[in-house]
Amino acid sequence: MSKRVFLTGASAGIGLATVRALTAAGCQVWGTARDLNRLPVDVPGFHPAALDLNGDDRALEAAFAGALQEAGGRFDVIVNNAGGAWFGPGAEMPPEELRGQFEMLALGPIRLVQLAIPSLRMQPGGLVINVTSLAARLPLPFGSGYSAAKAALSVWTAAMQMEETAPLPAGQHPVRFVDVQPGDINTGFNRAMAFWSKTEDADDPLAEAVRRSLAASDRSLAGAPPPERVAKAIRQVVMDGSSGPLLTVGNAWQALGGSLAYRFLPRRLLLWTVRKNCGI
Ligand SMILES: NC(=O)c1ccc[n+]([C@@H]2O[C@H](COP(=O)([O-])OP(=O)(O)OC[C@H]3O[C@@H](n4cnc5c(N)ncnc54)[C@H](OP(=O)(O)O)[C@@H]3O)[C@@H](O)[C@H]2O)c1
Repeated sequence: MSKRVFLTGASAGIGLATVRALTAAGCQVWGTARDLNRLPVDVPGFHPAALDLNGDDRALEAAFAGALQEAGGRFDVIVNNAGGAWFGPGAEMPPEELRGQFEMLALGPIRLVQLAIPSLRMQPGGLVINVTSLAARLPLPFGSGYSAAKAALSVWTAAMQMEETAPLPAGQHPVRFVDVQPGDINTGFNRAMAFWSKTEDADDPLAEAVRRSLAASDRSLAGAPPPERVAKAIRQVVMDGSSGPLLTVGNAWQALGGSLAYRFLPRRLLLWTVRKNCGI
């Protein structure tokens, strides 16, 4: 029987590439965006659903329940992929933007997993893929809220990886959790970001650093691997039924170099390296 997948952020970038990869592999995919009009209409096996991770809890629960019912009461795979960022100084981040980052990148995805767990545990092979970010380990200057929220989901995922080895009631099966951490990927992610209100202020030295950091990030994204690279990795995790608990995807400098640097460099040197890489 074909796998039934619930995937957030299906309208663009990594999510859209993953829709194409998974439906081509025979999966039925329920994919979300805030606006249904942004979702593909020409992909066999794709089912659109509206979901705003910054909306209220009841709307999120209703959106998931609707998709679950359409899927016949069973999902085999949840992919928490949707995301976006606020770019600017952590000290100046408006409280609603900080809260919004945690709702979108950690609290909403965790709630979706909680809602899905009963159906995922109904049969062996239930799978949750949380698309976090290399920024969960190597935080980005002027992306403090984003990095912290990604780290929160990554750590939650690691805790669940341990909890799912504990005994379950008869007839329930443990769920596999995989933390997929992309490095820079060439999508419209930076264009969709929200920005600090003083970013264009020519007289503010901090704004100058923010603009330099953004320019470095734009350059890095432009030369980064396409979203199909992450989609292929996700398809392998879904279809092969095996993978490590943490998967880093991106160019070798970031994916391999970043992982090694995180593990072996003293923190002072690590932060210096990331900072220089980010143009400040
Ligand atoms: N690109 C990178 O370099 C990179 C690196 C590391 C990690 N990631 C992570 O990979 C994931 C996908 O990023 P991407 O590069 O593919 O970005 P993207 O092209 O900007 O796509 C973002 C997706 O998230 C959805 N989304 C945004 N805000 C949402 C909200 N409040 N509620 C529900 N859905 C929302 C968007 O849908 P609508 O706008 O249509 O609603 C869209 O489908 C994100 O979690 C991102 O943090 C990306």
